[in-house]
Amino acid sequence: MKKILIFLAASTVFINITLAGTKLSPSKYKDGVYTGIGQGYVGEIILQVFIKNGRIKNIQVVKQNESSPGNAFSDLKGSIIVEQGVENIDAVSGATVTSKGIFQAVANALEKAEGKDPEAGNRNVIPVSEKKHVKKSLGTVQVTPAPVWVIGSYDKNGRPNVMTAAWAGICCSNPPAVTVSLRKATYTYGNIMAKKAFTVNIPSVDYIKQTDYYGIASGKNTDKFQVTALTPVKSEFVDAPYVKQFPIVLECKLIHSYDIGLHTMFVGQIMDVKADEFILNKDGKIDMGKLNTFIFSPSNKKYYKTGEAIGSAFSIGKNYEDISKLMLQPKPNVLENNK
Ligand SMILES: Cc1cc2nc3c(=O)[nH]c(=O)nc-3n(C[C@H](O)[C@H](O)[C@H](O)COP(=O)(O)O)c2cc1C
Repeated sequence: MKKILIFLAASTVFINITLAGTKLSPSKYKDGVYTGIGQGYVGEIILQVFIKNGRIKNIQVVKQNESSPGNAFSDLKGSIIVEQGVENIDAVSGATVTSKGIFQAVANALEKAEGKDPEAGNRNVIPVSEKKHVKKSLGTVQVTPAPVWVIGSYDKNGRPNVMTAAWAGICCSNPPAVTVSLRKATYTYGNIMAKKAFTVNIPSVDYIKQTDYYGIASGKNTDKFQVTALTPVKSEFVDAPYVKQFPIVLECKLIHSYDIGLHTMFVGQIMDVKADEFILNKDGKIDMGKLNTFIFSPSNKKYYKTGEAIGSAFSIGKNYEDISKLMLQPKPNVLENNK
């Protein structure tokens, strides 16, 4: 019996080596460590795929919160390394969604290893000490990272509409207020002017496609809620609908509008903030990690996920207060020329 078992184990190793061996053709992967993201059952799954000599050598879990993944992570890691990819591998039974999230994360990392995401290799690779801060003038184009908000409004017939807006932000704490800048050509512009109200809906990454579509189609000729099968809900405090599936909603009353040029800036006083319970921490505060939203980069027209908490505001910079106290006689600043 023992001999049979040893024989079977040896055959498995042999078969695996042979399978791996059949994949030794010139690799499309560039050596390095690539991070990939997938959607699991509970939340996102983040993995790192290690490529050496053009081959997948290891896979490490960076983040996962799956409730019952079983052996999905260890089993699939082995299969993916043997197969050198995610094709033709079956999901682990009882953990199908988790398995799909793992496949998605590995595929995402492998895309980067193949150079399909041209920016992947360039990020954060220059040590701080070697960064040369010589500024190149880009003219007056919009480059700052912008929020991705979905603005809800009713048209004159009471039909709910949504549009995506990135020229937007918080503008006052008391009264709590936000601005959103819209072109007169949008359907939403006329709606807000007429109803003096709008909602701000913050999407999670689950709804990136719907959000992008809301910035492509116009409510003039399309019912965007119906097309995307999302649910309009009546606000409690203002005459505008909000999107049920989006985790944060601000109900806003129009208090000012300013014509700036192409855009008109609407100032909305926040009458109520609503948030899904699952994005709140135990103190009842919004946890940005759980919110899992994204921002817009106007210069390359891409969306980026918001990341993990990296420090506490009004706290992480406090060391400089001590340094400031130690500086007996502050020297006058010497201004450099850009070179
Ligand atoms: C990421 C993104 C951001 C946008 N930001 C704005 C904006 O801030 N202001 C604006 O007028 N249009 C913006 N747009 C375009 C509008 O969303 C688009 O014109 C939309 O069709 C208007 O919808 P509506 O006609 O139903 O109001 C953006 C589009 C996208 C995809």
